[in-house]
Amino acid sequence: MKTILITGGAGFIGSHVVRLFVNKYPDYHIVNLDKLTYAGNLANLKDVEGKPNYEFVKFDIVDAAAIQKLFLEKQFDGVIHLAAESHVDRSISNPSEFVFTNVIGTVNLLNATRTQWKDQTDNKLFYHISTDEVYGSLSNEGMFTEDTAYDPHSPYSASKASSDHFVRAYHDTFGLPTLVSNCSNNYGSFQFPEKLIPLFINNIRNKRPLPVYGKGENIRDWLWVEDHARAIDVIFHQGKPGETYNIGGHNEWKNIDLIRLMCEIMDRKLGHSSGTSAQLITYVKDRAGHDLRYAIDSTKLQKDLGWIPSLQFEEGLEKTIDWYLHNEEWMNNVTSGDYQKYYEKQYQKR
Ligand code: NAD
Ligand code: TYD
Repeated sequence: MKTILITGGAGFIGSHVVRLFVNKYPDYHIVNLDKLTYAGNLANLKDVEGKPNYEFVKFDIVDAAAIQKLFLEKQFDGVIHLAAESHVDRSISNPSEFVFTNVIGTVNLLNATRTQWKDQTDNKLFYHISTDEVYGSLSNEGMFTEDTAYDPHSPYSASKASSDHFVRAYHDTFGLPTLVSNCSNNYGSFQFPEKLIPLFINNIRNKRPLPVYGKGENIRDWLWVEDHARAIDVIFHQGKPGETYNIGGHNEWKNIDLIRLMCEIMDRKLGHSSGTSAQLITYVKDRAGHDLRYAIDSTKLQKDLGWIPSLQFEEGLEKTIDWYLHNEEWMNNVTSGDYQKYYEKQYQKR
């Protein structure tokens, strides 16, 4: 039986990865390590918590000594590292937290992995989950490939870029079997409502303004979270150490077009007349250093490992909106308490 560590498994993408691995690989023992920050929520994993091959451990990856001890105790065969501070706006308000978790936390995990595996690295893998935001911003032309030079602009993307460099450096310097994947924007169930899609669904539900940064002309490349989890599964099992894989759905949307589509779908689902939700659109002060466009070229992953996205965007967005509308209790729980303070601080000054 293999013991696999998944960090950040109580978060949005991590919970989908944990669910996929626990259900698909009964012969793996899956250890979900998470600090349970505001973004970590064990309610995301209610359906797997009783499974015999699943275990949750509450740790902070910034605590090097505790992480070293855990590795020696558990003897992990593989690591899939998702734990991170993940929201650009929070990184603008509080950059240091991003350095602690994303950079130092990642280095702590790399050190603990080295100590545990020593030179016994056959069939072992440290897999680091990263973002397309490390490549910076595109104009209207071109796409990010695995060879695009890093050019991060936000404290979030700078911290992720730094962690990616450390992961590759440990491969090149110490021979640690590591690999990195860089994915485009994810959407789907269990995403914390600070990110565009769940935030706007929740605001439409509550008839609150929809704060569009700048002119709404920024472009993002959206991928359904369960397709990202499937890609992580394929890369973990078939990817080559030392390699990088870009993950994306060739699905670019200008923010304002995506928001208008969401408004139309929500009007239909809520029984409102067409145009009702769009009246909530409010243009607000732009995000500082706002990247114009992201677009991922995932040809390498598709050709070398045979992964393709399973869902068309319109279908995925419908499913996602349905999920949030049918899981009001989840939304009400994560938006009680500190969320209101965050929301006021983030949006009142715009
Ligand atoms: P998330 O914010 O929903 O979840 C992050 C998880 O990490 C939470 O459960 C949180 O409790 C945990 N965590 C944070 N700090 C920790 C610490 N110090 N120790 C232990 N656990 C800690 O994030 P997400 O959107 O699920 O993103 C997961 C990973 O995927 C991140 O590394 C992110 O950079 C990357 N990524 C995200 C996207 C996206 O669109 N969301 C796209 C590409 C890559
Ligand atoms: P977000 O979901 O924060 O992801 P990222 O910044 O990592 O791409 O934002 C997606 C896009 O939506 C981005 O261009 C910023 C914009 N946006 C808004 O216009 N208003 C908002 O309230 C938020 C959270 C984002």
